[in-house]
Amino acid sequence: MQPAKRLEQIPPYLFAEINRKREKLVAEGVDIINLALGDPDTQTPEHILQAMHTAIDDVSTHNYPPYQGTREFREAAVNWMENRFGVTGLNPETEVISSIGSKEAIHNTFLAFVEPGDYTLIPDPGYPVYQTATIFAGGEPYTMPLKAENNFLPDLNTIPEEIARKAKLLWINYPNNPTGALASLEFFAELVDFCKQYNILLCHDHAYSEMAYDGYKPPSVLQVPGGKDVAIEFHSLSKSYNMTGWRIGFVVGNAIGIQGLRQVKTNVDSGVFKAIQKAAIAAYSTTEAELQNLMSVYQKRRDIIVQGLQSLGWPIEPPKATLYVWVPVPPGYSSAEFVDLLLDKCGIMVPPGNGYGANGEGFFRIALTIPDERMHEAIQRLKDAGIRYA
Ligand SMILES: Cc1ncc(COP(=O)(O)O)c(C=O)c1O
Repeated sequence: MQPAKRLEQIPPYLFAEINRKREKLVAEGVDIINLALGDPDTQTPEHILQAMHTAIDDVSTHNYPPYQGTREFREAAVNWMENRFGVTGLNPETEVISSIGSKEAIHNTFLAFVEPGDYTLIPDPGYPVYQTATIFAGGEPYTMPLKAENNFLPDLNTIPEEIARKAKLLWINYPNNPTGALASLEFFAELVDFCKQYNILLCHDHAYSEMAYDGYKPPSVLQVPGGKDVAIEFHSLSKSYNMTGWRIGFVVGNAIGIQGLRQVKTNVDSGVFKAIQKAAIAAYSTTEAELQNLMSVYQKRRDIIVQGLQSLGWPIEPPKATLYVWVPVPPGYSSAEFVDLLLDKCGIMVPPGNGYGANGEGFFRIALTIPDERMHEAIQRLKDAGIRYA
């Protein structure tokens, strides 16, 4: 038996090599501190669990759900967009669709819009699915470098004219994984203009829309006047409400974008369990105080890590959003070398920056998904091993 050639084009799984090493160390009895996973470690809030308990006892939730999500769920999504971002006038029939978490919707959007030979404009470093989905669709990824000197925003002026003309999708993700960078509404407006000029569907992956600190509130690309003419936005309940395992989100915005995605999904999956949609509606009624309570857990961990690394000479500032701290490796090391050193000398597991694209070289990523004591311990292990920035 021979799997399809396209599978050979998919780059190796980011964690494959580090996982292999970690398993070996665990077998030798090493206590590994895993700072690699973007998977919240605390429970889904109580009011969401309660809504799920009630919904699952209601037999009307047990049959096939509507492909695009229940009307009730889509209305809740539209209301949330209005309350959270001030985006009004979204049509729950044509401008919103439920998704099984955002990963599948991201992948399926490529299948809906990219033909062999088309380009996709994707960030580097970036969430690996943008690249693999381009390959699955037979397209050509054109990577937009995210550089520290540009505040990890793509420089649209460097995209060659002939590539822009052949591009079908432009992907952005702010707050950004892995860099923790933010984008302003002004920058979103530039992207909207660019995508209008070249007739590109602008795809904003907003997986971390609620994961922000110090009072910062990330904007939506649909707040830009005319944004809906070219943009769709991917929302997910996974990270904000500790719901990664539940698999629910929604995509909202341009009706052609939503219709294309809907056509693929109608032929691939059968929607999200209706009980989960009811639980998600409860999630969208989370009060600001409750949300801040959830975020305070990560903000505290962020401060432990950032202050700890600063005390060891690292030139970093606390990120205002996401679950991650994007950290430069000390001079003289490659990302892979430094990540290996952390695992071998300290039993600390982190992904190398270049696992997110060539422009991630020189960095590694820390996820804020383990308890405070383990964060303190990680810093202590660095101190004990004499590892400093310079
Ligand atoms: C940038 C980004 N987009 C999308 C996702 C997918 O999240 P989910 O499918 O759980 O909504 C992730 C998860 O790590 C992510 O980091």
